[in-house]
Amino acid sequence: MPFDMLHFAEDMHCHEIHMVIDEPTGLEGVIAIHDTTLGPALGGCRFIEYSSTEDAVKDAIRLAQGMTYKASIAGLDLGGGKAVLLKPKKIIDRKAYFQAFGRFVHQLNGRYITAEDSGTDTQDMDDIASVTPYVCCTSVQKKFSVADPSPLTARGVKKGIESTVRFKGGSSLVGLHIAIQGLGHVGYNLASFLNAAGARLTVFDVDTARVKRCVDEFGAKSVTSLDALLKTPADVFAPCALGGVFDERTIDLLKAPIIAGAANNQLVEPKHGDYLQQKGVLYAPDFVVNGGGLLYVAAQYTQSSEEETIARIDGIYNTLEEIFKRSKESQIATHSIACLMAEERIKKTPKNRP
Ligand code: NAI
Repeated sequence: MPFDMLHFAEDMHCHEIHMVIDEPTGLEGVIAIHDTTLGPALGGCRFIEYSSTEDAVKDAIRLAQGMTYKASIAGLDLGGGKAVLLKPKKIIDRKAYFQAFGRFVHQLNGRYITAEDSGTDTQDMDDIASVTPYVCCTSVQKKFSVADPSPLTARGVKKGIESTVRFKGGSSLVGLHIAIQGLGHVGYNLASFLNAAGARLTVFDVDTARVKRCVDEFGAKSVTSLDALLKTPADVFAPCALGGVFDERTIDLLKAPIIAGAANNQLVEPKHGDYLQQKGVLYAPDFVVNGGGLLYVAAQYTQSSEEETIARIDGIYNTLEEIFKRSKESQIATHSIACLMAEERIKKTPKNRP
């Protein structure tokens, strides 16, 4: 069956899709605005290669929906959107390319606010800012004491782990065994925080230098494959690499009774959230646990203070507690409860569309 873009968007409750083309610069992309009930749609600008326009459109819509949920559950007055730019084989003038993109963003009159994402950097955001104010992560915006969101994302993940452990009857992280997949910006900071809190670590990353750093600095044990990490009898499994980790096969291998980590889109499909519940695994929904990144970026735009932002990030603990309680009472998987909670807030808010 040929791909039906509008029906796909409708199924995902995505309200707007804008196709952007600028021949002189080679710009081709999609801006998906999923929902603006709570406020302007904030979401990064992804600049990677796609094998087809269909893949790019699907990615933009799915990611925009994820941003709607993430903003809603984080208590932000923001909607969800995403830009996906199809990276050309060769880019002639990167500055002109991102300025052309910025002009498209500007035409949306602030319904979509763009930001850094895979493949884009601060310079690109500065170039966009030269033609529109609807951008964050620029070099001139107010900076926190940390220059990128990862330490704050890791702080939120640690709060998430504490909340899951508490819900399972534990009292602290001291002596707990935590398996971390992915030791990049977030995973490394998380390992550092957990080590400082007295946890024992087993780690895996495809980049062996990153593994060595955690072994040397935190006394972590290491394994050499994802399967080996899944089979590690840890108390918590923290996915901090890429998405798509959990399907029937990997869930069957998993020994840890808790999952809480930073990676986006950890479940291959929503049904795998149900499977985790059937298996008695407490799953902290990814878009709740990793909300620190969005809170950091949003603060750059709304000029919220660092203290206020940190307090919201620490609030991930309580949000998860509520999700777990509702999940236990209703016997509905935590992932579905988190989606319901995000949708409830949107439904309660009057629509503000022209
Ligand atoms: P990163 O790119 O700095 O680190 C990812 C790490 O995962 C790298 O060390 C890489 O070698 C490793 N990796 C890749 N594939 C792997 C595999 N199959 N098995 C094991 N390791 C693998 O990314 P970052 O910024 O640390 O983000 C990690 C995850 O958290 C991503 O899914 C990202 O979308 C998500 N996230 C990050 C936020 C942030 O503030 N950086 C905010 C919210 C979500």
